[in-house]
Amino acid sequence: MADVLIAPSILSADFAAMGDAVKNLKKWNADWVHCDVMDGEFVPNITFGMPMVEALRRNTDMFLDVHLMIVKPERYVERFVKAGADLVTFHPEASEDPFGTIEKIKAMGAKAGIVLNPDIPCNVAKDFVSKVDLIMLMGVFPGFGGQKFIPEVMEKISELKEMTKGTDVLVELDGGVTLENAPEMVKRGLDVMVAGNAVFKAADPARAIECLKTGKTSL
Ligand code: DX5
Ligand code: ZN
Repeated sequence: MADVLIAPSILSADFAAMGDAVKNLKKWNADWVHCDVMDGEFVPNITFGMPMVEALRRNTDMFLDVHLMIVKPERYVERFVKAGADLVTFHPEASEDPFGTIEKIKAMGAKAGIVLNPDIPCNVAKDFVSKVDLIMLMGVFPGFGGQKFIPEVMEKISELKEMTKGTDVLVELDGGVTLENAPEMVKRGLDVMVAGNAVFKAADPARAIECLKTGKTSL
């Protein structure tokens, strides 16, 4: 089994120093950079859009994992890929044409994925398995960093790993990851782990990333 990839969410970083944040992530041995785009409509919070992704792209060669929490993502996916996104994920219920949105992302040369909120059952992902590169499970209701993981989501990791068995589709989890619950996620075969507060609020973020990767539960 390949090692779990760590995708720190810059939502928990200092917005006035994003260039430094992505440079640090590389030093700290993170794998991907998770970018949380919120529109104040799909979720009750607003973060940033394409200009931030474009600015990050100028400051890092790391893989940019762009999570769209926006209504009708089909309006913007091409511009996010153009800005430098390597992977674009969106919530299918926010789109009028989820399959068309996936096609748009792929046609631009990026990887595409869907995201399932904690209350959306895994069987919703069934029709998408043959179309996407990744399926992401929310461990919290999206909108804010630093929320508590909803324990029922743990079982969904195993369910999705079973559903995607024999394919190249990766399973990612976003929200509420801590050093304490990460080992169980890895045990269930999780491929990519988003971590906002667990990395950026840690006294030693490099060590926190190492712990998340190796299953150590304390710094
Ligand atoms: C939640 C975001 C997550 C979040 C992760 O709305 O999509 O990416 O910022 O942060 P933590 O790991 O602190 O829950
Ligand atoms: Zn996210």
